[in-house]
Amino acid sequence: MAYQLQRGTYDAWGSDAMNLKKLEETLSAIASTFGYVPIKIPTYEQTELFTRSVGESSDIVSKEMFSFMDKGGRNITLRPEMTAGVMRAIVTNKLYVNDLPLKYFYCGNVFRYERPQAGRYREFSQFGIECVGVNSYYSDAETIVFGYNALLMLGFPKIILKINTIGDQQSRDNYKVALKEYFKPYLESMCDDCKRRYETNVLRILDCKSPEDQKIVANAPKIQDYLTDEAKEYFQKVLDILNEFQIEYEIDDNLVRGLDYYSEVVFEYHFISENGVNLGALGGGGHYDNLLKEVGGPSLSSVGLAFGLERVNALLKELDPCCYEKPSLDVFMVHMDEKSKEHAFYLASDLRSAGFIVDMTFENKKMGAQFNIATRKNASFAIIVGEQEIANHTYGVKNLKTQVQENVSYEDLVDYLDNHLEEEDHHHEE
Ligand code: HAM
Repeated sequence: MAYQLQRGTYDAWGSDAMNLKKLEETLSAIASTFGYVPIKIPTYEQTELFTRSVGESSDIVSKEMFSFMDKGGRNITLRPEMTAGVMRAIVTNKLYVNDLPLKYFYCGNVFRYERPQAGRYREFSQFGIECVGVNSYYSDAETIVFGYNALLMLGFPKIILKINTIGDQQSRDNYKVALKEYFKPYLESMCDDCKRRYETNVLRILDCKSPEDQKIVANAPKIQDYLTDEAKEYFQKVLDILNEFQIEYEIDDNLVRGLDYYSEVVFEYHFISENGVNLGALGGGGHYDNLLKEVGGPSLSSVGLAFGLERVNALLKELDPCCYEKPSLDVFMVHMDEKSKEHAFYLASDLRSAGFIVDMTFENKKMGAQFNIATRKNASFAIIVGEQEIANHTYGVKNLKTQVQENVSYEDLVDYLDNHLEEEDHHHEE
């Protein structure tokens, strides 16, 4: 019986897997320049952590969690996002006694039982940052700028940054009253999700994707008219910094985000390819004031964001398939008989110790067949080992791009490969 790939999951290997890994490395390196350090948290937590933090009214908690009872009768959920787990780790380990803000970055797989479609999986990867314990518009602006610049550095020519404020508690309370009043007469005709949102978190209706409901949303009261002076000023300060960095943004009144823990500034990054491919947000985040307290810690403000790495990866591939990295080798060893195979085996090991990427086949194949493998594996050089080469301590080194072959002694081999690989702009770590 052949086992099926589970709906909403994917396998990645070779080029795609390499590029996903590289995304993590590049984003980690960029986050480090802002003083972020890594944090690693478990893949599953107690279910209540997510119901409390992500929120009962969110789609995630109400219908998308992978929850189960473990053998000890505990209610467990596979993490649908990482922010809640990071907050739990901060409380568990009392990390808040350290200098604030705490600045952590993370990368890992998360699980949401969503309807799969392009760019939407049930198990996917997020890279994110959380800056915890500071209430400053500089921190919000820094986070937004980090995300924007990181996407440009990864190769996006342009990013659509959508931004909004959902205000402080008082602004939101006032706004919710106005929204409830506005939606009440329409509610009967609205979708079931909106009927539920009306009761649990009326703000979420602004996010509804149903075209019919969107028409109703279009004329709903705007948050701007309900913001306190403080919330208005805070938002403006963040926008001023973005202007200073000449970062373009769109203020999107209906951007409320799908998680309950936000307050004040929220944002998302989007990209639409030339062929019109739009996978939804590449990343999003915002400011949150109550989450740490909600999970048992002190009352500290924070801001963070997360990218969906599959979406970023898919769009980068579409943008520039040529630059998209492929697996490659520096050297493929070609041998002629048992004795030269053994010699090649140990020579390969010497070359790897010198830092080269080297492979060979242990099957007894004709030289032509071995060269074909070398080409398929994207090797820069083939090193030919035969009886004579062993006797002379000199090998035939063939450049597989130019087809030029030269004899190189064992002593000169490392320098020769170094110089020629460098010429091809083919870096390898010493
Ligand atoms: P989120 O907007 O729910 O935010 O998810 C972040 C990103 O994950 C999205 O922008 C999208 O790129 C990606 N994503 C979401 N769902 C899927 C899916 N089903 N398949 C593939 N990719 C997906 C959060 O998770 C917050 N924790 C972000 C945050 C950090 N806010 C403050 N700190």
